[in-house]
Amino acid sequence: MKSTEQRDAIAVLDFGGQYVHLIATKVRALGVYAEIRDPDDPVDSFRDYKGILLSGSPALSAHDEQGGWSRGVLDLGIPVLGFCFGHQEIAKHGGGEVKHTRQEYGAATLHRTVDSPLFEGLESQELVWMSHGDTVTSLGEGFVELGYSTGEDGASQEHRNAAIAHEERRHYGLQFHPEVDDTPRGEQILKNFVLGICGAKADWSVGNQVEARAEAIRKQVGEREVLLLASGGVDSTVVAKLFERALGTERLRLLHIDNGLMRKNESAEVVENLTALGLGASLRHVDASATFLSALEGLTDPEAKRKAIGDAFVEVFQREAVQLGLGDVLLGQGTIYPDTIETGGTKRADVIKTHHNRVPIIQEMMRQGKVVEPLADLYKTEVRELGKALGLDAATVQRHPFPGPGLGIRVAAADEVPADYDESRLQQAVDVVLEGAGVRGLPLPVRSVGVKADLRSYEHPVLLTGDQPSWERLTGVATLLTRKVENINRCLCELSGRRPRQARLIPATVTRQRLDLLRELDRIVMDSLKRHDLMEAVWQCPTVLVPVSLDGHGCELVVVRPVHSERAMTARPAWIGDDCAAEITDQIMAFEPVSGVAIDVTTKPPATIEWE
Ligand code: XMP
Repeated sequence: MKSTEQRDAIAVLDFGGQYVHLIATKVRALGVYAEIRDPDDPVDSFRDYKGILLSGSPALSAHDEQGGWSRGVLDLGIPVLGFCFGHQEIAKHGGGEVKHTRQEYGAATLHRTVDSPLFEGLESQELVWMSHGDTVTSLGEGFVELGYSTGEDGASQEHRNAAIAHEERRHYGLQFHPEVDDTPRGEQILKNFVLGICGAKADWSVGNQVEARAEAIRKQVGEREVLLLASGGVDSTVVAKLFERALGTERLRLLHIDNGLMRKNESAEVVENLTALGLGASLRHVDASATFLSALEGLTDPEAKRKAIGDAFVEVFQREAVQLGLGDVLLGQGTIYPDTIETGGTKRADVIKTHHNRVPIIQEMMRQGKVVEPLADLYKTEVRELGKALGLDAATVQRHPFPGPGLGIRVAAADEVPADYDESRLQQAVDVVLEGAGVRGLPLPVRSVGVKADLRSYEHPVLLTGDQPSWERLTGVATLLTRKVENINRCLCELSGRRPRQARLIPATVTRQRLDLLRELDRIVMDSLKRHDLMEAVWQCPTVLVPVSLDGHGCELVVVRPVHSERAMTARPAWIGDDCAAEITDQIMAFEPVSGVAIDVTTKPPATIEWE
């Protein structure tokens, strides 16, 4: 329900789209309080909002999925703006038509046709971000088309009704996602709506919430103690400082678990850093790599791996709590919002992947009130802002993100060629799309996780080779292939200049040997990025081992995945420059098991940042 404090607020109706909280975060970044609401809530409970935003959804508006939501909110006289599914629902409610046709994923160009306060300050053409399978095909009375879309090049086929409005009712719909960072002027559009059309006052900021969040921790924890899993990453370090602020060091224990899935020498560095931040006295460090490795033994399914890692964290946590003589102890975690949404943590969201801090045992502990997660509603940028407000230095708050399951999700595992891998059909389909493109594509007999139109996809990557194709060409080809060829969600480009004709799966699981190899390769990539001064320009750069042999050489394809992103909900592949790429390739190719080196050139969506 609406915040008790009397401030201007915006409601975000959660239809289960992956960007729901991103919408709220973007509104908050404008200085206006935003909260996520269930579209089934009673219409009356929405009366006090200054504006209402409708999110995207994994459901299909054309098939009237989720047809039963409280559509009455559209008749309250409050300004409404819908994105993707929300846009289609507004169009339908206003007498328009929606059909399941004409998908678009990734970058597109919006061509404005009619002026509107929603687009004030925008050019006549703007880059926007799409991820949809349904389309508004006709408009009801009073609605006008504000713009249509074409491909990123601005020239390909037109998609009408990419932006629509009923100005009198103050109802607006956008087929694209202004909330993602890849719609460069999206913030201006949201600002026009929230501050302009809704007239909301800007008086909210996360940096001012240190005391309020500390107070919330004290209230939840009471007289108990907190044992916090501290990985050394930004989230757990910020939350450690917040717990320290709330509880002091007496009732706070930090546990750093070396799970054997860390980067080279990382555990030692984490202990050093936490000690330098004044948290050394309450810190305990355990080497539990044997527990994690044995939990991972023989597993190939990504979800099973994540679950095994998550369960092993809980097992070690419980063991250590007993060792430390802690009785009624709460588990502290630096969980942030994407961990929750991607596990399907809200009513309508699809499970993209189960994050290690959302495995069933932890969900059960949450039901029993045994878990404290003070950052669970925040995105990375907000966590960093909070960290600064807590006095943490720039180097700590700006660290590249590193996933909780660590290298465990960067060592891809498979025991057989996936049943849906139809090599000749895929190769044919890829050849047709790439005809005349100057690039060749080789489908790989493995699968990796992706996200398409808010749904989890588990499909095959394609390895691209060619005569020094430009970066723009490669990323363009990736967008085309993932859009046009069914069962493809990712593209990589071979970096060593070879042109493999054949890819073979070499069955492999997560072993200490492969982890040790990846540690060396990851260190090479990280060192090279540092040497070429790319650590700030690149948001995150996983290095991944894929058990594939190219033309019978070696048994590991090494994939480097540098991305530009801000909140990890979307990402663009980042080029690291010829020199850095050549340096990395030469050094990595020198390792005997290595079959090839490739750079991932796919956006998120349709791929994810991590590989599996
Ligand atoms: P994806 O791969 O979903 O990653 O695009 C988005 C961000 O989340 C991180 N990530 C994880 N973090 N547990 C985590 O703590 C996980 O299971 C996990 N999977 C992905 C990833 O590194 C990126 O920053």
